[in-house]
Amino acid sequence: MLSITDTDFQKIQNIMYNQTGVFLKDAKKNLVIARLRRRLEELGLDDFSGYIRFLEDVSSNELEFFVNAITTNETYFFRHTEQFNYLFEKLLPALVEEKSRLSQREVKIWSAACSTGEEPYSLSILCHEFFKKNHGFRFSILASDINSKVLEQAVTAQYSERSLREVSAELDAKYFVHLPPDRARRGLDITVIDAVKKNVRFVAHNLLKPMAGEKFDIIFLRNVIIYFDKQTKQHVVNLIENNLNQGGHLFISLSESLMDIKTGLNYCKPGVYCKK
Ligand SMILES: C[S@@+](CC[C@H](N)C(=O)[O-])C[C@H]1O[C@@H](n2cnc3c(N)ncnc32)[C@H](O)[C@@H]1O
Repeated sequence: MLSITDTDFQKIQNIMYNQTGVFLKDAKKNLVIARLRRRLEELGLDDFSGYIRFLEDVSSNELEFFVNAITTNETYFFRHTEQFNYLFEKLLPALVEEKSRLSQREVKIWSAACSTGEEPYSLSILCHEFFKKNHGFRFSILASDINSKVLEQAVTAQYSERSLREVSAELDAKYFVHLPPDRARRGLDITVIDAVKKNVRFVAHNLLKPMAGEKFDIIFLRNVIIYFDKQTKQHVVNLIENNLNQGGHLFISLSESLMDIKTGLNYCKPGVYCKK
């Protein structure tokens, strides 16, 4: 049976931490084994010592596969629906009023750990609904993640029924297509209409690094800082702050908090912060 020594697990922890900022707790040992077992078999390796040597050999280019295998990518459309409702009912109306006063016509949003794309596509659907009554405004959504595999799925935009569990029948009928079996791949038989895809641009981006030169009115950084230690969270949130426009809002998830770090952001409500 495949197992991992404490020393090898520590090496895996360090590699993951240095690459992504994600700290793998000791309790994740079995998860690491489960996620890499097939890879070791494919490579003909019997143990993690061999795999770590392979990973550390720059010419193997294994780091990308490793990061893709180890990151946790759980997501679904309109996750934490109450945050989308707050955006729709409170923040977007105020933002549009302020932008109109300044004769500005564009709302820019960043989904900063977008996984397979359900979050940025939910934001695009929400904006389509909102801006149909606010003519003359444009919106754009940048969506990024460190994991190249999830980004591939995000671009193809094919999902399973399960990812629609928070979507109302009305939005389902309007913005989603249920594909016939010959067009569905591996049980992924749901997609979004082209109009929803059109406003979303996907890029690979590591949150440990600055996203240079782009400013946003709204940034979603949800369900990712939970994997960071305090020092990394501090670093990532300070970088993200630089990408927020004055008056812009940062969303984290309802199970995350910025209470333990120093930021220039003001607390608005659980999961929402504003740059004054
Ligand atoms: C659990 S998903 C969250 C998806 C979505 N934001 C949501 O709330 O449903 C966390 C995502 O963070 C990404 N991630 C982890 N570390 C990252 C880093 N350093 N830079 C960018 N993305 C990272 C993972 O690849 C994963 O797709």
